[in-house]
Amino acid sequence: MKENNTGSGAERYSALFDLSGKTAVVTGGLGILGRRFCAGLAAHGAQVAVADLDDHKAAAFAEQLHQDYGTACMGAGCDVSDPDSVVRMTDKIAQRLGGIDILLNNAASKSDDLEQFFAPFESYSLEQWRQVTAVNVDGMFLVAQAVGNHMLKQNRGGSIIQTSSIYGLLGPDERIYEGSRYLGTTINTPAVYSASKAAVVGLTSHLAARWAPYGIRVNTLTPGGIESGQNSRFIERYSARVPLGRMGQPDELVGAAIYLASDASSYVTGHNLYVDGGLHAW
Ligand SMILES: NC(=O)c1ccc[n+]([C@@H]2O[C@H](COP(=O)([O-])OP(=O)(O)OC[C@H]3O[C@@H](n4cnc5c(N)ncnc54)[C@H](O)[C@@H]3O)[C@@H](O)[C@H]2O)c1
Repeated sequence: MKENNTGSGAERYSALFDLSGKTAVVTGGLGILGRRFCAGLAAHGAQVAVADLDDHKAAAFAEQLHQDYGTACMGAGCDVSDPDSVVRMTDKIAQRLGGIDILLNNAASKSDDLEQFFAPFESYSLEQWRQVTAVNVDGMFLVAQAVGNHMLKQNRGGSIIQTSSIYGLLGPDERIYEGSRYLGTTINTPAVYSASKAAVVGLTSHLAARWAPYGIRVNTLTPGGIESGQNSRFIERYSARVPLGRMGQPDELVGAAIYLASDASSYVTGHNLYVDGGLHAW
């Protein structure tokens, strides 16, 4: 493209975040953040595959995206902890939408049994630990592997974004959980969640180094606490610990995801982008 006399190539810059002609897969696409990621990607022109446990709900949400943004979108029922399900899901998407350019490796499990999930570390069961890591670690591995293989075969690069958490870096301040409730129960941040989210950062570094020669960028997106129905006591205590003085809103992750998905971050790989109101900084 011809540069203008400021040397800035303004036209090129204004298209930096354009995702037209790209296909994106979002695992956990029906979740609080997943739905926003899907909408943000479609709004920037991408074809979006919504991958989540419930096939019908994923298809219905994909249809809604198509109505709202006009790009070809599809639902893809998938259990990310099941290798066959993951391969079926990625093959179907690549075939229907002409390959895969962007992956938001984002699904995570809070477990079916919240009492077990939030149990104290000292009596935490190995069974519960494995149930969570089967999704949060094995699932990340399986989806990155299946999508990465498509990207390598396609030979046109790609961008993989993996969702971690501020608790993959920080230990929880137990004091903020006193009197806190969420999803009808008392809450904390279990060690299995921290360990699984730290694993995401390690997987990102490894894959960023391994796939850089093929133009496949791999980055971590690390959200801080997002407001989504916690009681006011929790919100106040959490907010008091954050430099920006509040919890995040689900929409506030979208800009970072689009940045990492698009050519705006063409020289960025192996990075961990915190969207946490500055919590990691002190
Ligand atoms: N919301 C937050 O405060 C927050 C903070 C830090 C990090 N995160 C991370 O952001 C990501 C998205 O979080 P969220 O708040 O949208 O979570 P969410 O619980 O609302 O959504 C998770 C989605 O993953 C899906 N899922 C669970 N198990 C699955 C499986 N085996 N196969 C396929 N899909 C499966 C669920 O059905 C759900 O739609 C997660 O990785 C989470 O750990 C969230």
